[in-house]
Amino acid sequence: MYLMRIFLSGLLVLAFGLTSAPIAKSDELSINTVNLTDILEGGMLYDNWIAVLGAEKPSATHSLWPASNTKKKGGTTWRCKSCHGWDFMGKDGAYASGSYKTGIKGIRASAGGDPAAIAKILRGSDHGFTPSMIPDAALNKLALFVAKGQYSLDAYIDRASKKAKGNPAIGKVFYNTSCNRCHGDDGREMNFKTADKPEYLGTLSNGNPWETINKIRHGQPDSQMPAMGALGLQTMADILAYTQTLPRK
Ligand code: HEC
Ligand code: HEC
Repeated sequence: MYLMRIFLSGLLVLAFGLTSAPIAKSDELSINTVNLTDILEGGMLYDNWIAVLGAEKPSATHSLWPASNTKKKGGTTWRCKSCHGWDFMGKDGAYASGSYKTGIKGIRASAGGDPAAIAKILRGSDHGFTPSMIPDAALNKLALFVAKGQYSLDAYIDRASKKAKGNPAIGKVFYNTSCNRCHGDDGREMNFKTADKPEYLGTLSNGNPWETINKIRHGQPDSQMPAMGALGLQTMADILAYTQTLPRK
């Protein structure tokens, strides 16, 4: 039986190794990842460097923001995620449509790239992130995140239904020990939007699962919420599977 199992797992490795691209091991961060805290901070800067750094919000719309999108303008258009997406896939991901549709490509091709070269792209005149906006130390963390911290959630979220491929029973244990003190047992302790159009954890988890995982992994900028990126992606998907069961209204 035991030998049989070894034989079967060997077959699996072979099958996955030879056919479809397996989930990149490099997508997984763990407590042993070199520069883990810098990478996790870089991911939070990717979400919203303005909030993380307490920087002045640019009033002009970013020059790379296309005129075809009139729904967003000003400071929001300077956030990395606004152009490249929570899934890092730009026009080929969730931002193929909706209020953040820009036609701009994703940054998956830079995964595994040279952080110094990425930092140079960001300092270039196209992106226009000057040292007075994002100082070198923060820019280097951003570049490190793009090179070593990006991840694909396609193995953990069904794109069409947005449903997490996780175990809600496991997620519930994590939720009730790591999240509920702040977000409440039913995820409604905090309202992320306005009183007339409330958004709770259940609402966001179902509406934007990619953003939800990003917040779990990197924390919420300018708040008490910690980064839990040392948990594996499957655990985060389990937590998401549970928060998707919480009330949306
Ligand atoms: C206003 C939109 C916009 C914002 C904001 C923006 N970018 Fe970009 N980015 C682009 C465009 C456009 C390109 C060029 C794509 C091309 O080559 O066609 C690009 C290219 C890139 C590339 C290289 C492309 C690749 O294939 O990997 C990286 C890396 C990148 N951006 C990272 C970032 C990071 C990190 C931030 C936040 C600090 C950011 N970008 C903010 C629009 C934006
Ligand atoms: C120490 C308190 C704390 C803990 C623990 C915590 N959070 Fe948060 N979380 C916050 C705060 C504060 C915000 C910001 C709320 C706001 O901006 O209105 C937030 C924001 C979020 C957001 C983003 C909401 C948005 O629309 O921007 C998500 C998603 C989230 N938390 C999920 C979780 C999950 C899941 C856990 C457990 C794995 C967790 N949080 C643990 C305090 C916490």
